[in-house]
Parts: sequence; C-alpha cells; structure tokens
Amino acid sequence: MARHLITSAIPYINGIKHLGNLVGSQLPADLYARYQRGRGNEVMFLCATDEHGTPAELAAAKAGKPVADYCAEMHAVQAEIARGFRLSFDHFGRSSSPQNHRLTQHFAGRLADAGLIRVVSETQVYSPADGRFLPDRYIEGTCPNCGFESARGDQCDNCTKQLDPVDLINPRSTISGSTDLEQRETKHLYLCQSQMRQQLQDWIDSKTHWPILTTSIAKKWLNDGDGLQDRGITRDLDWGIPVKKGDQDWPGMEGKVFYVWFDAPIEYIACGAEWAETQGLQADAWERWWRTDKGADDVTYTQFMGKDNVPFHTLSFPATILGSQEPWKLVDYIKSFNYLNYDGGQFSTSRGRGVFMDQALEILPADYWRWWLLSHAPESSDAEFTWENFQTSVNKDLADVLGNFVSRITKFCRSKFGEAVPEGGAWGEQEAALIETLTTRLRAYQTFMDEMEVRKSAQELRAIWVLGNEYLQSAAPWVTFKQDPDRAAMQTRLGLNLIRLYAVLSAPFIPDASAAMLAGLQTDDADWPEGDLAAWLSALPAGHAFTVPEVLFTKITDEQRADWQTRFAGIRT
Ligand code: 2FM
Ligand code: ZN
Repeated sequence: MARHLITSAIPYINGIKHLGNLVGSQLPADLYARYQRGRGNEVMFLCATDEHGTPAELAAAKAGKPVADYCAEMHAVQAEIARGFRLSFDHFGRSSSPQNHRLTQHFAGRLADAGLIRVVSETQVYSPADGRFLPDRYIEGTCPNCGFESARGDQCDNCTKQLDPVDLINPRSTISGSTDLEQRETKHLYLCQSQMRQQLQDWIDSKTHWPILTTSIAKKWLNDGDGLQDRGITRDLDWGIPVKKGDQDWPGMEGKVFYVWFDAPIEYIACGAEWAETQGLQADAWERWWRTDKGADDVTYTQFMGKDNVPFHTLSFPATILGSQEPWKLVDYIKSFNYLNYDGGQFSTSRGRGVFMDQALEILPADYWRWWLLSHAPESSDAEFTWENFQTSVNKDLADVLGNFVSRITKFCRSKFGEAVPEGGAWGEQEAALIETLTTRLRAYQTFMDEMEVRKSAQELRAIWVLGNEYLQSAAPWVTFKQDPDRAAMQTRLGLNLIRLYAVLSAPFIPDASAAMLAGLQTDDADWPEGDLAAWLSALPAGHAFTVPEVLFTKITDEQRADWQTRFAGIRT
C-alpha cells in the first residue's frame, strides 16, 4: 500500500473563497486524495486556514471584532463550507494553532543556528496618529509603476507589481486615513535565501517530471534573481507568531511577529500535529508522515496550488526546510493551476466579483460544481466560467449521460424483472467487446488520475459513462425482451453492474451521486476494479435486491440560468 501525503494551499481566513480559489487548490487536491484512497492507498490530506498577516487584522477590524475571535468564527465558516463541498480533509487546521507557533519558532531557531538569518535595519512607514508601523496592507497610495490610486503597501492590485510601503506616492494609513506619516528605522530578521540558490537550483533541476507551469515559474524566480533575494520574515504587527528562537526570546525582536508567508507553509506540518491531537493519538504519530527519520521516507508528498503560490512553495518553503538541516519531508510533486475567470472578467475577492463557495451551495448541490470545475480545471491555460457552459455541461454530462443511464436501466429492470438483479444467460460478443473497450479506457483513466491530469481524467470518465449508454442503446434490452427475455435479463444484469462501476470510478469527482448509486444498488462494496474487469462486473449476483435511485441530476433550465446570470452579475457586498 502506497502512502500519499497531500496538501492544498491554505486559504486566507478573511472571507469566503470563490470558485476560482476552490478549483485552484482544494478541489483538485480532494480529487486526488479520494482517488488514492479509492485505490486502497493510505492518505493524509491536510488543509488549514491561513490566519496571520494584515488581511486578517484588517478584516477583523472591519467586522468590529477582536482578530482572534474573527479568525475562530471564520475558520468554523470555512470548515462548514468545505464539508458542503465534500472536501475530505483528514484535518482542517489553523495556522494560529499552538503547534504552528512552536514549529515556526523552532524553524527560525534552526535557521539562525545554521547562519541563515541576519538582522537588517530598515526604514518603514510609521504613523504617529495610529501609534504604529504600517506594513503591507496597512498602507495605501498611488502605485509608482502604473499610477493606480489604491495600490497596497505590498502589491499593486492593478499592475500586480510587488511594492514596498516606502515606494507609494501620496501614502495614507488604511486604519485612520492619516497622511501624516514618517519613516522610522526598525530592525527585522531576513532569511538568507540567496545563500541557498545552488541547492535550490539543483533540487528544482532534479524535478524533471514536474508540470511545466510549476518549473517555469520556479526557474523564472531563480534566474531573474528577484525571487531569491534575502527576504524579511518578521513584521511589526500584534497578531501573528511572536518572534522567538525556539523557545528562547530573541533579543531586539520584542513585540514583533513572523511574516505570514514564513509561518503559513509550516502549518502544513503543524496541521499533521493538530491532526494527531484531534485523533487522540500519540503526540508524535504525525511524524511518520513528515520526518524521513521516522518513516516518511516512503511517503509521496504532493502539493496543490494556484500559480501565484508557486514561488513560495518551490523556493521559500524549501529554503526553510533545507536550511533547518533536519530530516523533514520535502515535496515530491507540485501541481499548480492557472486562473479561472468569471464571465468575461476576473473572479475577485476584494471586489466581490463572481460566485462564492457559500452562494454556489445555496443554488445547487456540490456534485454539480465539482463536475464542472474539475472537468474545466485551468491546467494548460486560464479557463472561464460562463453560465451557458455550466448549464450545458451539467445537462449533457451529468443528466443526459450518467443520470439517464442509471435511471433507464434501473427502471427497465423494475418494470420487467422486479427490483432484483435478474439471472439471464451468458455474455455474448457485444458484451466481450464492451468489456475490452472499458478495460482500455479504465487504464487510461487511471493513468491520467495518477498523473493528476484533471481535465483529461474527466474526459476519460465521461467516455466511460458514454460506453454504457451506447451499449444500452444498441443492446436495447426493451426490444430483446420481446423475443429473448433471457438475453434481456443478461443485458440488464450487466447494466446494473455498470452502475456500480460508475459509482466507484466517479466517486473522486461526484461523491454524493456515487453514494446514491451504491445506496440504490444496496451495496457498500466500493473496492476499485483492480483485477479482471469481467469478473468485477459480475459481482452483483442474480437475486441481489436494489431500489431505483432518486433522480441523480436535475437539468438546469433556461430560466434558472438567466436568473443566476443576473443575480451574480453584480458585486457581492
Ligand atoms: O494564496 C493564498 O490563499 C495563501 N493563503 C496560500 C498559502 S499556502 C501555504 F503556503 F500555506
Ligand atoms: Zn500598479
């Protein structure tokens, strides 16, 4: 049994994520986790909320709540929505956990001992009116690059250029609006990533099997020199992980916290420790997933993320891990995604544009979204969500192809043979040919799923559903029944067994429909078809009782589509 450690980029705590966020990390990670479990492998699937940094503080201030309370509430909200989408995390943790505090401080201590941290005295913007420094998003002003008037201290939303608060023209505090700002000296810790350039270059060069999107971004950052500049890993903020060297105070760093991008990826590891605690396991039970000296050397570790996260996962986080000189598990494969756009523009959290995860579940069950998003995953290029495309895909793939197959065969059986699998005679040539084609397609499906080719996997799965429909159409048991009821019974028996096949193979994409199919077949035998497919397709024996499942997928009407199109055309407030 292989062991798979799978992490999804951890979503920021400030607000509910949109469908573009979902398809860029959590959903494909869930697909892969479900598939690996389906194949009988051991899986540890971890995700968490990313709770530090100025976005969290500002969102809490806007909500009028203490930041710790705000994060606790939003974590519960995000966890509930994740359950709604059937994201099968083994643990959904929090980067503000005590485990992450300890580990982050531990890593900082190790990096300091290895001579990879230096203290830098720098000029930062200070607001006397607010009585504090204004890092990152605590300051706004005009972008020196494009002239956009609401550029943030860390980045311009208009031209995406990374900024330093001191670069902004006409800066103002986002807390008080004060423009009476000064520049003051402050000291910060810098991670000497530049010392690790060669080691990181060699490591990335060894990943010849990684997707081009991942390696091209990593190499661009390495070679442009921009990404491997030494990087400030501390901030003058209240909310965050206090700067310590292991469990020791760090002289000169009093009152400062680690930068959110330093502690967020460490939460992947800390999340494992949270999992062990939640499960009531021994405190070190998680180490067999994360420490190569404690059994993790046979683990395959895969990360899922949007392309904007790639530099942090290919350079900064590996620099932390390698720099610690301890045997932590490094990532084996990074699956990254382009962006999903929304109806002619971008999804945007700050501008409230698009469909958000909670809204999506209010109008349709998770499987409808999961299917569309995964079958249109932005892999080789950016993709676009349109309501027309969504309607077509749901109505054709889910309702006409899969739903229709299940409904036809179960209803036909009920009307002619009753609600039990009929006996019938032996398979003929047509059945043998079908099984041969299914075997080939099943292999292709598995290969695509193993390779995390999400769109191709969806296409292959759909093709497998279509084969069932085509078989039914040409075997036509409702016609056969008139001359040869025995043969019609055999065809029906195969059709019912095909439903089980579809339930098992489709579970990673549409888990609720799969469960409904298995419930209808009154079986919980969901073992993957590993061996001879013909034998596997005979597993539901004659006499096995079933019930006709409720309609699996309801078609989206033109009225619904038009209604949603209007409802989601505006801005969410
Ligand atoms: O882009 C984001 O949503 C970040 N919160 C992802 C962090 S992933 C990791 F490093 F923890
Ligand atoms: Zn700009």
